[in-house]
Amino acid sequence: MNFRVSIDIAPTAAEAAIRVSARIAEHISIAAMSPRPCRLGLATGSTPEPVYCDLAGRVARGELSMASVATFNLDEYVGLAKDHPQSYHTYMHRQLFDHVDIDLSQTHLPRGDAVDPEQEAKRYEQAIAAAGDMSCQLLGIGRNGHIGFNEPGSEPDSLTRVVQLTEDTIRANARFFDDIDDVPRQAITVGIGTILRSQHIILLATGESKASAVAAAIDGPVTKGHPASFLQTHPKVTFVLDRAAAGLLRD
Ligand code: GLP
Repeated sequence: MNFRVSIDIAPTAAEAAIRVSARIAEHISIAAMSPRPCRLGLATGSTPEPVYCDLAGRVARGELSMASVATFNLDEYVGLAKDHPQSYHTYMHRQLFDHVDIDLSQTHLPRGDAVDPEQEAKRYEQAIAAAGDMSCQLLGIGRNGHIGFNEPGSEPDSLTRVVQLTEDTIRANARFFDDIDDVPRQAITVGIGTILRSQHIILLATGESKASAVAAAIDGPVTKGHPASFLQTHPKVTFVLDRAAAGLLRD
């Protein structure tokens, strides 16, 4: 077991998501009392969907307000307009923004349809830095260890940029599209260096299919061959896992 990172193993995927939602809600509530508003870094994919559902439930019950929260998503597909059904803009509205009291002008994602994606990546990196970096960053993990869309080979000090997606990631994400040929081959992603500037990082992984990526991230060497392993160098990272995703961790 790696003692440099904090690991929270829940009995089920549903319970893991509730634990992540509770951590985020606590973070938002504490930040709401401080002069600096909460800057929440958000992830997409199937894994965080129950987290967003639970956060929306807390807001609906009056237990939480997201009115003072600024959000910055990790990534967006190059070429997809905001209103494309598979854009991460659309995903965020469907999963969270349309169900909570967030100020939409404080929700940020890279523009996938920007005329100059490289310039858009630079603008997005500057916006994150100008906001004071993330006070809390939520991450998922790809089966190849990618975080955001930082594929294997990404440098630890990389910033927001345009990246090529690997065949593995394109195949994994094809389930959201009608045809694998519709999956964009490029994305704008915040960098590993951008992520590592966050004050607190929470990585949620559930299911057996993530077990080897999680084990390599926590127990393996710190290497750009497995981008999530760079999280071992961060002073405040919490992996929230279900038993299946934790199944290959060393004792
Ligand atoms: C995409 C996203 C990642 C996410 C990954 C895993 O590649 N860019 O941020 O972590 O998918 O997604 P899932 O949770 O669906 O397995």
